[in-house]
Amino acid sequence: MHIFDKCHSFTRAREVMAAGYYPYFVPIEGSTATEAVVGGERKIMIGSNNYLGLTHHPRVIEAAQAAIEKYGTGCTGSRFLNGNTDMHDFLEERLAGFMGTEAALVFSTGYQTNLGVIGALLGRTDRVYLDKLDHASIVDASRLSYGEVARFKHGDLEELRAQIEADRESNGNGGGRMVVVDGVFSMEGDIADLPNLVPLCEGLDAVLVVDDAHAIGYLGPRGAGTADHFGMTDRVPLTIGTFSKSFASIGGFVGGPEPVIHYLRHHARSLIFSASMPPPAVATVLTALEVIENEPERRERLWQITHRMREGFKSLGFEIGPTETPIIPIMIGPVEKTFVFWRAVFDAGIFTNPVMPPAVPENSCRLRTSYIATHTDDQLDFVLETFAKVGRELAVI
Ligand SMILES: Cc1ncc(COP(=O)(O)O)c(C=O)c1O
Repeated sequence: MHIFDKCHSFTRAREVMAAGYYPYFVPIEGSTATEAVVGGERKIMIGSNNYLGLTHHPRVIEAAQAAIEKYGTGCTGSRFLNGNTDMHDFLEERLAGFMGTEAALVFSTGYQTNLGVIGALLGRTDRVYLDKLDHASIVDASRLSYGEVARFKHGDLEELRAQIEADRESNGNGGGRMVVVDGVFSMEGDIADLPNLVPLCEGLDAVLVVDDAHAIGYLGPRGAGTADHFGMTDRVPLTIGTFSKSFASIGGFVGGPEPVIHYLRHHARSLIFSASMPPPAVATVLTALEVIENEPERRERLWQITHRMREGFKSLGFEIGPTETPIIPIMIGPVEKTFVFWRAVFDAGIFTNPVMPPAVPENSCRLRTSYIATHTDDQLDFVLETFAKVGRELAVI
């Protein structure tokens, strides 16, 4: 078999394109935080992770522009060598303070953060336990590491306990243990059960890593994520975050004990062998952090919107799963129906994300919707009215 054979026989995406239902790589021609322009038409954006609407905050934009003037557009190298600035160092200091950890380390994306942290910490005799709904970057990082990977059913802490206890009894590989979960699960919107997971990991001597990509910025009284939400910041050994969501940019970080962060600084390959976050991105995140600390009303508005949309969809008869956050999946079912639903709401002026296998099981397809603190009530009314109309037409409700 030629290496390219699989490419020539991959026809599925072209078939969907030919049918006029292709929902990926949509070219956005311009945007505000809550609207995207596509094909010259404005679409209400309920498909982004811009939870606090900070991509278009005037102070954030100003800071990014000023950073370009001072440092240029990029760092052209790894932080390890020529690509570190005083802003990167300051951001780490600020993040450690915000998260309440001894130290923090900044990477160029959230994906690379998982790759670097998990890859550097897991050795040949170690084992990592993953929730089946963990983000792909956690799964990839674990597979690429030297450690052994085990997976437990989503949220099933009894299965996790049984797996760890069985390994301990047989003394498995005799190495260390790590458990990695999403703080907020990106496709379901539910929150990891830290009040039970933390003592379980403590009792079984497993290091808990919480990937708070979808939590940091809005979850918890200070917006510091899932541990903040449960009042357990001092009991989660490592927290990972990304800047591609509430922080309105790109980049990622890990917060934890100083000796661990120091070790990662010198061993995380995705940090050492990849160029650093560009200056406007760092300045964006620093300013976004200031806004998160000083404008709690954004979080309050986001929660108000979240409750309203959850109740709105439920009372219309939509199935939205166990979500507790601004991520509200609208369950549709079969692949074809999901494409048709996506196209109908898109044509009506709403931008959503269809989620298909392998990201979710067959017949469990959904439109992932997510909300922004700056959405207006009129926009939200329009979303509910449109979903009600399309839902009835397609017999989803
Ligand atoms: C839980 C989780 N971790 C990591 C990432 C990757 O983050 P980034 O986009 O910064 O690479 C994502 C992105 O969706 C995510 O949902």
